[in-house]
Amino acid sequence: MNNTSECIHAQRLTFAYGTGPNVLDIPDFTVHAGERVFLYGPSGSGKTTLLGLIAGVLQPEPGTLNVLGHDVGSLSSAARDRFRASHIGYVFQMFNLIPYLNVRDNIALPVRINTERRSRLNGSLDEAVAEAAAHLGIEELLDEKVTRLSVGQQQRVAAARAILGAPELIIADEPTSALDADRRHAFLELLFSNVQEAGSTLLFVSHDLGLADQFDRSLSLPDLNRAEG
Ligand SMILES: Nc1ncnc2c1ncn2[C@@H]1O[C@H](COP(=O)(O)OP(=O)(O)O)[C@@H](O)[C@H]1O
Ligand SMILES: [Mg+2]
Repeated sequence: MNNTSECIHAQRLTFAYGTGPNVLDIPDFTVHAGERVFLYGPSGSGKTTLLGLIAGVLQPEPGTLNVLGHDVGSLSSAARDRFRASHIGYVFQMFNLIPYLNVRDNIALPVRINTERRSRLNGSLDEAVAEAAAHLGIEELLDEKVTRLSVGQQQRVAAARAILGAPELIIADEPTSALDADRRHAFLELLFSNVQEAGSTLLFVSHDLGLADQFDRSLSLPDLNRAEG
């Protein structure tokens, strides 16, 4: 069933919060390794829920969701946390930067706490952080507190943090929603060049269809999803 060229494969994936109605009911959904996929849908259509399942923040039913060769639903909560830390870079919608850490320590944190991601660095962690920051044009800001940054700068810190240690899968949840059009395109170019260099798969979620043509493939979540909501 699992094919090594498949990064994500969902089959008969359903999810409900508690005893509520199904938010997701997805017969089939595949993302191939190395693909840059744009996933769109209106607010409330389940985009963040699907990302949460893929990243193991939420628990799918066993046998319904395979990510990087792992049946995510059969992992314990602790194993899902380890899996995410080792293999997935996540750019959150609100960035989720740690307010009391500076830029350098925010970028370094996921790799600092995960030996598998650290082992993929070529040089030292300090060097890798400096390089990721330079790629994203924030090398001057490494000693700044993140609370003093503009939204666009915070977004680039979140992207550098997700990319560090070359995770196989990078997930971005509406990371450009707070930016104007020029900055959106510039940010996407930076993200793409970093994703390409790391050889990562990118799953990028947005409700802004204007970005879709920059991706290998775009998918509508309402088209994939049979749940009535
Ligand atoms: N923690 C939660 N508990 C209960 N319902 C939730 C929770 N998070 C999201 N939902 C509901 O699930 C549906 C999909 O939400 P979400 O995945 O956040 O959509 P999107 O990211 O596309 O805006 C919505 O109806 C939302 O109200
Ligand atoms: Mg969302």
